[in-house]
Amino acid sequence: MTKVKVSRRLQDVSAFHVMSLMAQAKQLEAQGNQVIHMEMGEPDFSTPQPIIDAGIEALRSGITHYTPTLGLPALREAIASFYLKEYNVAVEAEQIVITPGSATALQLVLNVMVSEGDSVIIPDPAYPSTHNLVRLLGGKVLQIAVNEDSLWQLTVELLEEHWDNSINAVLLASPSNPTGTIISDIQLQKIADFCEVKGVFLLVDEIYHGLVYEQAPKTAVGLNDNTFVINSFSKFYGMTGWRVGWIVSPKAYLDDVNKLAQHTFLAAPTPGQYAALVAFEDETHKVLIARRDEFKARRDYLYDALTNLGFKMRVKPQGAFYIYADCSEFCEDSFDFVSKVLQEKHVAFTPGIDFGEAGAKQHVRFAYTTNIENLKTGIKRLSELKS
Ligand SMILES: Cc1ncc(COP(=O)(O)O)c(C=O)c1O
Repeated sequence: MTKVKVSRRLQDVSAFHVMSLMAQAKQLEAQGNQVIHMEMGEPDFSTPQPIIDAGIEALRSGITHYTPTLGLPALREAIASFYLKEYNVAVEAEQIVITPGSATALQLVLNVMVSEGDSVIIPDPAYPSTHNLVRLLGGKVLQIAVNEDSLWQLTVELLEEHWDNSINAVLLASPSNPTGTIISDIQLQKIADFCEVKGVFLLVDEIYHGLVYEQAPKTAVGLNDNTFVINSFSKFYGMTGWRVGWIVSPKAYLDDVNKLAQHTFLAAPTPGQYAALVAFEDETHKVLIARRDEFKARRDYLYDALTNLGFKMRVKPQGAFYIYADCSEFCEDSFDFVSKVLQEKHVAFTPGIDFGEAGAKQHVRFAYTTNIENLKTGIKRLSELKS
């Protein structure tokens, strides 16, 4: 069969490198080996029971049709109230747009922001879908290398240094994937002010905002009139498979967002939206807080254990469930290192190359999305590498 040529823009899109490692891990497991998974970007906990019950109840009641495109009105209200309660920020329910996960939110907002030839600033390292989606729209990605000095986040000084007139948007995620670090409230405000002066968009991915272990950060919602925020029920709420996320859109762009939502996904999954309605209730909240405490304990254990082994981290991540570690003590190329450790020690984690270019060969991402017992087994196996 002769395959017809796929779109030119698709040719610029790359797959996650970690997927090939996950396939190898599956093979090892099929041969009877126990693989310790520290590559998974989703909580190991299943969805809290009250949320599952609400989803089942919706299905039993025959609630199986589309919701309005912008989302279930009650859920949009609940999310608007959440911003007031959690951050003391007033948002109108009409500004909340429910999407099938924040992956779709990201795609939709980038469609609002990016024209052919526009440049978009993204920190390096960052969540890889962002680069690929910008390229798919014919935009140019301007990756700015960041490091521990700025908590792996952009700063207004870095923006000033790299600025040119083709830039139309600045993207950041806080806490970040892969580094788990949070932008300071002061830098976030400065970046929002800078974007306002330059007349460009700001997109802040707050998908890991619920999973922060020390100080609660400020939301970027409302920082200026051209800032979009995306978030999701996937990570903190443990609902990855339900596919429900959201956008907080400035009012002026709601018609654009609505138009795009109609044509790209029509509506987010209905059972998932009904299930998410109970995500903010006290009973669910208690479960989520206990899980967050567990993630914090895992982070503390893994951070110390990796440091003792010789991995280098100059800052302790304050959120998400990732540790981005310098592995130059062990290898010259982190991709080869990750492959070797998987094959020889049956421990899986992610090479830096999945998140950018600068420093990628010297870094790997560990995800503490598995229990402490498994983390301990993983560390024991890693400790044998040097002996
Ligand atoms: C930074 C970041 N943004 C967005 C997503 C997409 O998540 P979802 O579509 O499940 O909301 C992920 C998933 O790993 C992520 O790490």
